[in-house]
Amino acid sequence: MSEVLFNPFDPAFRANPYPFYERLRREEPVHVSPFGFTVLTRYEDVARTLRGQEFARDIDAHVTPREDDPRRARRERIRQRQESGQAAKTILNLDPPDHTRLRRLVSLAFTPRAIERLRPRVQQLVDDALDVAAERGSMELVEELAFPVPFQVISDLLDLPVENSAQVREWSQILTASLEPTADDAAFDASEVAGAAMGAYVSEVIAERRRNLGDDLLSALIEAEEEGDRLSEAELRSFVILLYVAGHETTVNLIGNGMHALLRHPDQLRRWADDPSMDVNAVDELLRYDGPVQETVRVPTVDVRYGDVEVKKGTLVMTVLGAANHDPEVFDDPDTLQLDRPSASRHLAFAAGVHYCLGASLAKLEAGVAITSLIRRFPEVHLDGEPGWRDRLTIRGVDHLPLRMR
Ligand code: HEM
Repeated sequence: MSEVLFNPFDPAFRANPYPFYERLRREEPVHVSPFGFTVLTRYEDVARTLRGQEFARDIDAHVTPREDDPRRARRERIRQRQESGQAAKTILNLDPPDHTRLRRLVSLAFTPRAIERLRPRVQQLVDDALDVAAERGSMELVEELAFPVPFQVISDLLDLPVENSAQVREWSQILTASLEPTADDAAFDASEVAGAAMGAYVSEVIAERRRNLGDDLLSALIEAEEEGDRLSEAELRSFVILLYVAGHETTVNLIGNGMHALLRHPDQLRRWADDPSMDVNAVDELLRYDGPVQETVRVPTVDVRYGDVEVKKGTLVMTVLGAANHDPEVFDDPDTLQLDRPSASRHLAFAAGVHYCLGASLAKLEAGVAITSLIRRFPEVHLDGEPGWRDRLTIRGVDHLPLRMR
């Protein structure tokens, strides 16, 4: 019966996956899906899979290919480009020791101190957007705040022009569409084309920056060196693309989904507005309650067991972060938004283990400043029409949130 419960093709599931996760966790927490992967919904199983050394992230290298895999030729083409050095896997798709090497190099340029230095700039961008809203008495949250602030910040960090924002946003949306479990051949074709176009754009920017190094993250990445080791040209390009995509396909949804949750819980909104001591925990609770990244994947490199169920090595395992974050074993009354929830920071919205989100502190800083500034300046903020949701599952978010404020 529960086979239908993880059906990304079902519009009701995509619109609100939480009731489906709940039933799945109760009825078949290790669910062998007819779509060819195994789905985990219990917190403990998800956390163990993300942290365990017996699980790989590099799907192409470790998943046992199906005979009828329609993506075989595409995978082979991409593999050849990677082997010839024309392309590189992103850090997200690497396993140790390659992952360890790359993560060390990029972390050098991505320290919490560097991120904290951005606070005044984030505040200024948010205040400017709120000034416009104050004059008008209304705002469309996504277009006027949730998207432009993270986009401007990642562009500032890398010192990249924002004039191309519409084009970069379009490429990013095409690239992330291929992460959806419903992605078909057309989505993968489009993603290859967008990836190539974005790669060419980023290569030009890198070449220009090599001639004019500055005090920005891109220059730091170009110069990043440890024990004679550096990022190759293809690694650098992949990483900049990942930062761009992560920088504005995820944080925008934390701000959007977070405000959406608060507007549905006005008592919580008012409490938070009056109490800055809640700032850190409240952002964690928003990440737990309706996080922007709903699931990711791993592959066991040996046969593993979850309770009674054995999962064979080479099986694609989907770790549903959104389900783990609503597991009543860890979070009491999980479907209630509780901004002072003591266990909120245990959420897995940024995953866990070696791939734990590199941009977590930046995302929290941006969302914290955006939401607290908005609700403190306009405690009387209301929905002004129907919110719209992107029809996506992996990256879940509102794409339209009209607000009215006094
Ligand atoms: C609320 C916003 C965000 C969420 C929910 C989020 C979520 C995640 C998750 C779940 C992963 C791990 C995926 C996996 O293990 O398979 C990840 C990795 C990553 N994220 Fe984020 N992210 C956010 C914002 C950002 C931002 C703003 C940046 C950078 C500007 C960023 C950069 C990265 C990078 C580089 C990785 C790969 C790390 C690695 O593989 O070692 N993220 N993120």
